[in-house]
Amino acid sequence: MRAIQIDRFGTPDVLTLVEAPDPEPGPGEVLIRTVATSINPVDDKTREGAIGEGTPPLPMTLGWDLAGIVVDGGSSGLRAGERVIAMSHQLGSTRGTWSDLVALPAQAVAVAPQAVSLIEAATLPLPGLTAWQTLDWLAVAAGERLLIAGAAGAVGGLALQIARARGVKVDALVSRDAQATFAYDRGADLVTTDHRTLQDRGYDAVFDTFGAFVTEAVADGGRYASIATQAGPAPDLSARGVRTTVNQVREDGAGLNELTKLVDRGSLRLRVHSTFGLHEIQAAHERFRQGGLAGKITVTF
Ligand SMILES: NC(=O)c1ccc[n+]([C@@H]2O[C@H](COP(=O)([O-])OP(=O)(O)OC[C@H]3O[C@@H](n4cnc5c(N)ncnc54)[C@H](OP(=O)(O)O)[C@@H]3O)[C@@H](O)[C@H]2O)c1
Repeated sequence: MRAIQIDRFGTPDVLTLVEAPDPEPGPGEVLIRTVATSINPVDDKTREGAIGEGTPPLPMTLGWDLAGIVVDGGSSGLRAGERVIAMSHQLGSTRGTWSDLVALPAQAVAVAPQAVSLIEAATLPLPGLTAWQTLDWLAVAAGERLLIAGAAGAVGGLALQIARARGVKVDALVSRDAQATFAYDRGADLVTTDHRTLQDRGYDAVFDTFGAFVTEAVADGGRYASIATQAGPAPDLSARGVRTTVNQVREDGAGLNELTKLVDRGSLRLRVHSTFGLHEIQAAHERFRQGGLAGKITVTF
């Protein structure tokens, strides 16, 4: 089968299309033929060697997101031919999704949304689970007020819509005026590019996707979650009774099933910026690195 691997760290030209052995699904695993994937910041950081300790040995197959077709469902109840999505924790498990065939634990796999193509569905797993799990940690209830920093990004844009679907009132911090239209359209009450205007607004919870650490915006007794691991630990706000965390996404088929329902209900709209073929993987990474994206970069097999 074909796979995108690196045998050294560096710029996108280290990405190579290679022939690799087909995976053998073990007990409790599902064998999936990949149709599409998407590029996430972690893929970029892994390729350039910015992750540091804990990366799988080289050569490694990259990729976390997966939308595809079941080849062998094993004991999972999934049938051959069924459309599925999954997130593989590539750094922890070494199972990169950028290959024709991927064997994953059944618990990491969910039925794909019917309302969208598999290319669109490939934008959902990693950003969607990060948004879902972090909102669960924040435990924002209907009627509570949430600030999302980076609300027009991949994770932030999904978190905004999931929070709205849960009845939460959401304000948005975005990086540029062009992103304000998106955030208002997805249901934000207030959108700003200036974090100073958020001081003392007393949010019940803050979801920080880029390490803004706008800690003065959270109410005493509130919750503050960052997902920006590269920005370091969240400040200790225990003196104000604020719980803080830096959340790490986990494989979670049950969470993906909930996201699929939201997409099929029309509550969660997915955004594709552009689509590249597998042989264009270097160009896809170059485009990702340029930034200024409105939507995900996807890659088809
Ligand atoms: N801990 C975890 O498990 C986990 C999971 C997923 C992602 N992450 C990390 O979370 C971060 C976000 O991921 P993502 O996929 O959502 O990336 P993304 O699509 O690039 O979204 C980041 C958003 O933050 C905005 N932003 C950046 N700096 C800003 C600033 N100073 N003020 C206002 N907005 C700003 C960006 O705007 P521009 O487009 O203008 O730059 C973009 O809209 C990445 O660092 C990623 O590695 C962590």
